[in-house]
Amino acid sequence: MHPIVAAVPRQAWRQLAQRAASSSSTASSAARLSSFARQQFSTAAKRPIPSFRANSTRSYSSSSLPPPTPPRKKNPNELKFWPFLVVIALGSGGYILLANKRNGMPTLPPKKDDPAGLLAQPSKPTPTFSPDEVTVIFVLGGPGAGKGTQCANLVKDYGFTHLSAGDLLRAEQDRPGSQFGELIKDCIKNGAIVPMEVTVQLLENAMTEAINNGTNPNKKFLIDGFPRKMDQALKFEEVVCPAKFVLFYDCPEEEMERRLLERGKTSGRSDDNIQSIKKRFRTFIETSMPVVDHYEKEGRVVKITATAAPQKVYEATRNEIKKFGI
Ligand code: C5P
Ligand code: MG
Repeated sequence: MHPIVAAVPRQAWRQLAQRAASSSSTASSAARLSSFARQQFSTAAKRPIPSFRANSTRSYSSSSLPPPTPPRKKNPNELKFWPFLVVIALGSGGYILLANKRNGMPTLPPKKDDPAGLLAQPSKPTPTFSPDEVTVIFVLGGPGAGKGTQCANLVKDYGFTHLSAGDLLRAEQDRPGSQFGELIKDCIKNGAIVPMEVTVQLLENAMTEAINNGTNPNKKFLIDGFPRKMDQALKFEEVVCPAKFVLFYDCPEEEMERRLLERGKTSGRSDDNIQSIKKRFRTFIETSMPVVDHYEKEGRVVKITATAAPQKVYEATRNEIKKFGI
């Protein structure tokens, strides 16, 4: 056995392998490396030691004593291989330790700058809510497509809790002391998408509250105006809860514009004016439609034409969601 290999006790190899195996996917290659190292270790230990008997058939001499065994030829590769392996394995072990330590550390701003915890979203192995216990339906459609109106009907008849991402953002914008107030205000006025960490956390907080305060015994949620961007969709389903399907209200721009301008007369919303409306339409086409297309490819979209009067659209909605067992 090479002296450097002998200097690393078997116990240390075992510990490295255990740490690697109990760690995340980044560590699995290190686990494989460790098991490879152990294999090499045991192969080296099992390598046959040259014996006199083995040599006796081919090396006779006139002397009665067996001839001296020629020194075993050292494989130059073997000499270089072990130190290299040891250095890599120890390096991997160190890396795993560091990675494990980091996993437990917040990566985003410290709490004092983020009292609502809107940015503290460390990656989680499983979402907060299981889709077996909690039903989430995403409700999408252009601005003015009638999402809010249809959600109100569904709440009445099916006992959903309605969470509008836009309403939650407006409430956070107005919350005294919010670190994100100005950012949200700017985004809304310009029809831009608020960074997903903020919106996803607001939704998770609202879901948790609704479940804990007993107002949603069925644990059924309509998440309205969300996800408006692919990153929101992926993050939410990864850390909060996978959605059952997407309810997509399809409406032509002229009709949506007419509705929004009408609503703007009384809504008091900073984005119900023609300049903001145009920007919101562009964001919807460029950023939000790819989300609908993504779910469509997965067969998870219920598409409803939303040009007719609200009651007609609602009837169509009821018929369609039946197909998903709602
Ligand atoms: O859905 P609603 O029309 O109320 O959204 C108003 C605005 O809130 C959007 O134009 C956008 O600026 C912001 N928003 C967002 N991400 C969402 C939903 C709304 O950034 N998922
Ligand atoms: Mg709305």
